[in-house]
Amino acid sequence: MWGDRPAAVFGSWRAPAPKGVKQTLVWRKPVDAGVVGSTTGFRNDTELVFLTGAWPKRPAERSSVLTTDVGMHSYLNGHPHAKPVPVMQALIEMTDGLIADPFAGSGSTLVAAKLAGRRAVGVELEEKYCELIVKRLSQQAFNFGGI
Ligand SMILES: C[S@@+](CC[C@H](N)C(=O)[O-])C[C@H]1O[C@@H](n2cnc3c(N)ncnc32)[C@H](O)[C@@H]1O
Repeated sequence: MWGDRPAAVFGSWRAPAPKGVKQTLVWRKPVDAGVVGSTTGFRNDTELVFLTGAWPKRPAERSSVLTTDVGMHSYLNGHPHAKPVPVMQALIEMTDGLIADPFAGSGSTLVAAKLAGRRAVGVELEEKYCELIVKRLSQQAFNFGGI
């Protein structure tokens, strides 16, 4: 349904990649992430970000590794899979136009869009997360690196 518009799909090696991947980024989570469920001695502290669709052409000035230096609990906001706002900002800054997040969760994409002065639409199934989104968006949003 999203057609050839640029999309960032957060994924996992456990699931098949989406169709038409142009590039894969890595989100390196903070040092307190990825402990639960790991049995190999290595933490599950990275997440793949699949870029699909027609991303605007830009010079290759940024690393494909997106990092989070603040601890997990400074950005989870009561949602188990919340993304840090700066990670979403980095992705949003590479695009133009309306932002859409069909799985808005804690609303980090929408907060990042607000900080960037961009129009955004979010969809979220769980009422408690919709309430969280409304609360976050109604607060004056400053970016201290971990929200
Ligand atoms: C991985 S979380 C998204 C986290 C989000 N990126 C953030 O930063 O908080 C996925 C969200 O999608 C929601 N969801 C699952 N199925 C959905 C559906 N069919 N329509 C809308 N939201 C859905 C879940 O309730 C969950 O909050």
